[in-house]
Amino acid sequence: MSVREIPLIGDISEGVVRAGTTVRRPMRATSPAVHALLRHLEAVGFDRAPRFLGIDERGRAILTYVEGVVPTHPLPAYAVSDEALTAVARLLRRFHDAAASFTPPPGAIWEDGSAPEGPAEIVGHCDVTPANVVFRARPGTQPLPYALIDFDLARPTTRLFDVVTTLRHWAPLADPVDRDPLQRPLDAVARVRLFCDAYGLPTRERLMLVETARIRFGRSYTLMRERARTLGGGWARMWDGGAGGRIRRAAAWLDAHEDAIVSRLLAPDP
Ligand SMILES: Nc1ncnc2c1ncn2[C@@H]1O[C@H](COP(=O)(O)OP(=O)(O)O)[C@@H](O)[C@H]1O
Ligand SMILES: [Mg+2]
Repeated sequence: MSVREIPLIGDISEGVVRAGTTVRRPMRATSPAVHALLRHLEAVGFDRAPRFLGIDERGRAILTYVEGVVPTHPLPAYAVSDEALTAVARLLRRFHDAAASFTPPPGAIWEDGSAPEGPAEIVGHCDVTPANVVFRARPGTQPLPYALIDFDLARPTTRLFDVVTTLRHWAPLADPVDRDPLQRPLDAVARVRLFCDAYGLPTRERLMLVETARIRFGRSYTLMRERARTLGGGWARMWDGGAGGRIRRAAAWLDAHEDAIVSRLLAPDP
């Protein structure tokens, strides 16, 4: 029996298709490690990620298709709401707590990406953009973040590093000129606090958040430039489309708002 395959268009991967209730993805060097993570998530009862079902006759990974909507750009209102922000923070926290008990298989190969200072605490998702989150609506409500997809960049990291990457896209930590139209008027400083409260980020990490973001921006810049040069494809398209300038402006925005972010993050509950 053959099921019609529908191409799924994302940021980077080529050849991702939907086939019925499944998604088929070309295997990469990192796929065995990612599949081990997905199996672990399933084993500990974290049901907000695709399940790994096996390898198909064409050598592609078979994952479950997660029903719902995935926002695309320009982002719709439901994707930039405070409710969506708190829901994605809680989702990330649940994922981190589930991933904390995962021991990667010996010799696991992960995508190399910007690395935190110091030792890794968990295998993080490392790419929680709105396009990598499935939203679901309950009757009478706007769609809210429901599940994480696209674990291609998962790798050992720290919770805070993954928080910062997520905030980069969702607060967002970005110069208003680079934001999606509906994100422009948002109070990103207040939303950093909202996110960290919903995640339950301890004070120790709050104190390190801005510095961690600064480190992350610097590393992303270098890494994206290198990927564009050596890998081409979607990476080159992103770089040629001005990704480097956006990171530089985000870093400048962060510097300008550092004091506001820190005082908001550490202020007593209203
Ligand atoms: N398991 C899944 N369930 C539902 N939708 C998916 C799933 N995997 C991918 N998609 C859809 O396909 C798009 C591209 O897949 P993704 O894994 O994010 O690839 P890319 O690396 O290109 O970003 C996603 O943004 C989403 O819309
Ligand atoms: Mg994606």
